[in-house]
Amino acid sequence: MGAIWLSPFYPSPMKDFGYDVADYCGVDPVFGTLDDADRLIAAVHERGMRIIIDWVPGHTSDEHPWFVDARSSRTSKHRDWYVWRDGSGDGPPNNWRAAFKGVPAWTRDPASGQYFLHSFLPGQPDLNWENPDVREAMHGVLRFWLDRGVDGFRADVVHNIGKDPLLLDLDSEQAGVPRFLFNDEAHTHEYLREIRSLLDSYDGDRMMVGEVVLFSTEQMAAYYGRGDELNLVFNFKSLYAPWRARAWAECIRESEAALSPQYAWPAWVLSNHDLPRHRTRYGGEAQARAAALMLLTLRGTPFVYMGEELGLPEADVPDEARVDPGGRDGCRVCIPWDASLGAGWSEEPWLPLAPEAGLRNVEAQAQDPASMLNLYRRLIRIRANSSALREGSIEVLRHCGKLLVYRRCMQDDSLIVAVNFSAAEVLWEDAPALAVEVASDARGEGEAFGGSLRPYQALLMSPRLA
Ligand code: NOJ
Repeated sequence: MGAIWLSPFYPSPMKDFGYDVADYCGVDPVFGTLDDADRLIAAVHERGMRIIIDWVPGHTSDEHPWFVDARSSRTSKHRDWYVWRDGSGDGPPNNWRAAFKGVPAWTRDPASGQYFLHSFLPGQPDLNWENPDVREAMHGVLRFWLDRGVDGFRADVVHNIGKDPLLLDLDSEQAGVPRFLFNDEAHTHEYLREIRSLLDSYDGDRMMVGEVVLFSTEQMAAYYGRGDELNLVFNFKSLYAPWRARAWAECIRESEAALSPQYAWPAWVLSNHDLPRHRTRYGGEAQARAAALMLLTLRGTPFVYMGEELGLPEADVPDEARVDPGGRDGCRVCIPWDASLGAGWSEEPWLPLAPEAGLRNVEAQAQDPASMLNLYRRLIRIRANSSALREGSIEVLRHCGKLLVYRRCMQDDSLIVAVNFSAAEVLWEDAPALAVEVASDARGEGEAFGGSLRPYQALLMSPRLA
């Protein structure tokens, strides 16, 4: 069953475009009202889909009433809901860096003279999850939305909620890198177990997918716990992997080795709102088509970032139109619905339109059987009807510099995926007899596999009886 993940829509000063939440239980007027949210939840369910929403547990906006109270005095009710420390000498309490501009992760509050911790912008003070009242309040937020019918949450940088109790300096090698990229504290797992039992106490399949920005597959895998922590964890190693057969074979093998089949189910993603679109990173449309075939045939849950199904490249946003403190505007531009001047949007979009909007829009691609949009649609349909693709095992059969071949298998349903990562034709010499079901470039479908793949071609194939 398909699901929609919405990025934050809560009231926010938008310093980090909604990831600075001023009220977890409301809707920013820019997006609508709470009634609209209820109507959206119902409308998604009516269509037989699920809806998951972004939950930002690690930090609030500095305009959230909790922080406004916290900074009002050292003895305020919410003071300890955030992480406050005295400075060390003339400077901040330690050498941690924040994300974005590499500034210190501490800002001095002139009123009390103490520093507060912020893993991201100073306008995003970190919550202190050691405080049981914070945990209870954030559980309340989950309940608020679960009671309204959402099916789950995408938990923002959730590995960063537990902090080193001693707030020790990072060593000199790590000191220049944002602290949250190393944060991996044992007590975070306790918090996640509490959250999981809350989710499991609800009817239906409520779930949480975690953004755990750790690049070791083993460290990431620990966030599934023993089936009692996160339901899904994004695989960040693969998100950052280059377009190379060896790198992807390694991601698949590591994921299979580290994720216990009993407790953990992989989650794959090629692009998101935080990094340049993969079509641009991988080098072009042919690679993006092959990547789509791979994404939708891997073992695990695939996440599609809006616009990748249209093959959108990273947009070149002019300086005067840039708004994001992290420089991520190029992947966030608005997707074109049609070829009209406003691309089907009723109001002036907040960012420029995606490039080639006249060509790469939903209406045009829906009509073209060979479009990227229809490639995604076909693959999603085939996946929904194949037990091998939905639930079957995965085995990497072969990888060299250019070619990756894996098999998906569920009892007697078995499919082979072959991906040519190179700009040259590649031979698969000892290939068994196969029939091409889907080709990323739509060539050769329905025919016997001829033993070679065209440049950047990916094929989904079934065994051919002699
Ligand atoms: C991760 C989100 O994906 C990103 O967009 C945001 O800036 C940071 N967390 C801070 O919330």
